[in-house]
Amino acid sequence: MLRSLLAVAALSLAASPALAADGAQLFNMQCKMCHAGGPMGPSLNGVAGAKIAAKPGFAYSPALKGKDGTWTDANLDAFLKAPTQFAPGTRMMIAVPSDANRAAVIAYLKTLK
Ligand code: HEC
Repeated sequence: MLRSLLAVAALSLAASPALAADGAQLFNMQCKMCHAGGPMGPSLNGVAGAKIAAKPGFAYSPALKGKDGTWTDANLDAFLKAPTQFAPGTRMMIAVPSDANRAAVIAYLKTLK
């Protein structure tokens, strides 16, 4: 009994922090298909610290366009946790529910210049 519980714990440990630790891998798997600079989503180069919804040449939703402020860590975290709550009407619906994965992907976004 105890032994199988330990085995399950070890398995789930192996499965999630590897992902959490690797924001780049997460980005490549869950974000890049839309955020490679095409019409599907704005390029995210330099997005950390930038004004919200301000990349030239991308047609943002009025919902995101109407948000004031910049992409601080807190705003990125809130948006990625629940995009449609942060900006009701946004066209980005993908959420990152795991706190650890959000932290990893935000850390990675900061490396995109
Ligand atoms: C299915 C396509 C799609 C996927 C997948 C996606 N996004 Fe988006 N993202 C969008 C769209 C579209 C917008 C613009 C939303 C709007 O205008 O309301 C956006 C906007 C953003 C913005 C704001 C950009 C700005 O210039 O203000 C950030 C930050 C962002 N996405 C991060 C991510 C991250 C991180 C992931 C992966 C976890 C991700 N997105 C996955 C489509 C996507």
